[in-house]
Amino acid sequence: MNLVLMGLPGAGKGTQAEKIVAKYNIPHISTGDMFRAAMKDETDLGLKAKSFMDKGELVPDEITIGIVKERLSKDDCIQGFLLDGFPRTVPQADALETLLSQLDKRINYVIHIDVDKEELMGRLTGRRICKDCGATYHLVFNPPSKEGVCDRCGGELYQRADDNAETVQNRLDVNIKQMQPLLDFYQDKGYLRTINGQQDIDVVFQDIEKVLGGQSE
Ligand code: AP5
Repeated sequence: MNLVLMGLPGAGKGTQAEKIVAKYNIPHISTGDMFRAAMKDETDLGLKAKSFMDKGELVPDEITIGIVKERLSKDDCIQGFLLDGFPRTVPQADALETLLSQLDKRINYVIHIDVDKEELMGRLTGRRICKDCGATYHLVFNPPSKEGVCDRCGGELYQRADDNAETVQNRLDVNIKQMQPLLDFYQDKGYLRTINGQQDIDVVFQDIEKVLGGQSE
C-alpha cells in the first residue's frame, strides 16, 4: 500500500495518518515531522528548514525531495508507506514519480482531505501536541481529558511554533496556491480520491477505509 495524504494545513493529515499507519502497518513519512526533528537536533537541515517554516513558507523543493528520496529507500518502505505532506508542489510530485519508477513502485491512492479554508484557522490555532508521544489534540474539537496533559502517555501538551495566527495565515495562502495544480496532476493520473474532512474524525477515517478497501470505486 503506497499512499499519499494531501490536504491544506490543519485538514487532519496528521490525525488520520496516525490511524492509517496503525491499521495498515506501514511507516508514516511526514516531511513536516522530519523537519521538526532536524530542528530539534539543530542539524544543518534543521537550521535551513527553520528559516522557512517559521515564516510559513515551503522549504525549497531540492531540500525536501532529497530527504524523501533517502527515507523512501529504507527497508521499512518495501511493503508500503504513507507520505503525509509530500508532495506539495508539482516538481515534488514529478520527482516522486521518477523515484518510485526507479524503485519499481507506484502510488496506489492519493487521499485528499478536503476542508474549507474558513475552518482551518481555528483548527490550527487550537491544536495542541504532546511533547513526549506526538499525539494531537484540539482545545475544542478533540480536547484531552485533563487540560494540558496527554491522555495517552501523561506528557505535557504544547503549541507548535508555526500555529500562531500570523504564520497560519501565510501557511494557508502559500499552500492554497500550490494545491490545485497538484490535485489536477493526480486527477489526471487517476490516483486522486477526495474525502470530506469536515466530519467527525472517526467518520473521516471510515471514509478513508472505504477508499483503501476498494469500496468507494
Ligand atoms: P506540516 O507539519 O506538514 O504541516 P501542515 O501541512 O501545515 O499540516 P499540519 O500538520 O499543520 O496539519 P494536519 O493536516 O496534519 O492537521 P492535524 O491532523 O494536525 O508542515 C509544516 C511546515 O513544514 C510547512 O509549512 C513547510 O514549511 C514545511 N514542509 C513540510 N512538508 C513540506 C513539503 N513537502 N515541501 C515544502 N515544505 C514542506 O489537525 C489539525 C487540528 O485539527 C488538530 O488540533 C486536530 O485535533 C484537529 N482536527 C483534525 N481533524 C479534525 C476533524 N475532522 N474535525 C475537527 N477537528 C479536527
